Amino acid sequence: MKTNFMPWKTIMLGGLMLMATNALAEKSSMTMGEKMFMDPHLSGSTNANSCNSCHAQGQGLAGAATNPDLGQAINNCLMANMGGHKMDGRSAEMRSMKMYVMAMVTHQ
Ligand code: HEC
Repeated sequence: MKTNFMPWKTIMLGGLMLMATNALAEKSSMTMGEKMFMDPHLSGSTNANSCNSCHAQGQGLAGAATNPDLGQAINNCLMANMGGHKMDGRSAEMRSMKMYVMAMVTHQ
């Protein structure tokens, strides 16, 4: 008997949707942001500093919440204080870093 019900198609579609959801979820995260914040080798950094060297527990970041261009501020520090390369504003890295910085500032 021929039927239009094809469970394998449903299963495959479900699998694809799950994969897509996971991929999106992996794009940016607090965990990634925290790891980056502590990393002295972040984005090609050429000195021993991590963000945490100067901003432990959110020190000096109070203005971040109202900073009109947080990404720019982060990149300034990354380049001027760590000798690193700036990060793309839309990258998962930058979004994770912003997420982590904002969490530190708003949870103080
Ligand atoms: C060598 C010390 C040093 C390092 C390393 C450093 N910063 Fe900074 N950061 C500062 C200082 C000093 C200021 C305030 C003066 C200024 O704006 O340059 C600042 C300002 C900022 C601001 C703006 C805060 C506001 O009030 O608007 C942000 C956001 C920030 N840093 C994030 C970071 C991040 C993220 C990293 C790591 C990629 C980092 N900083 C690395 C010293 C540092």
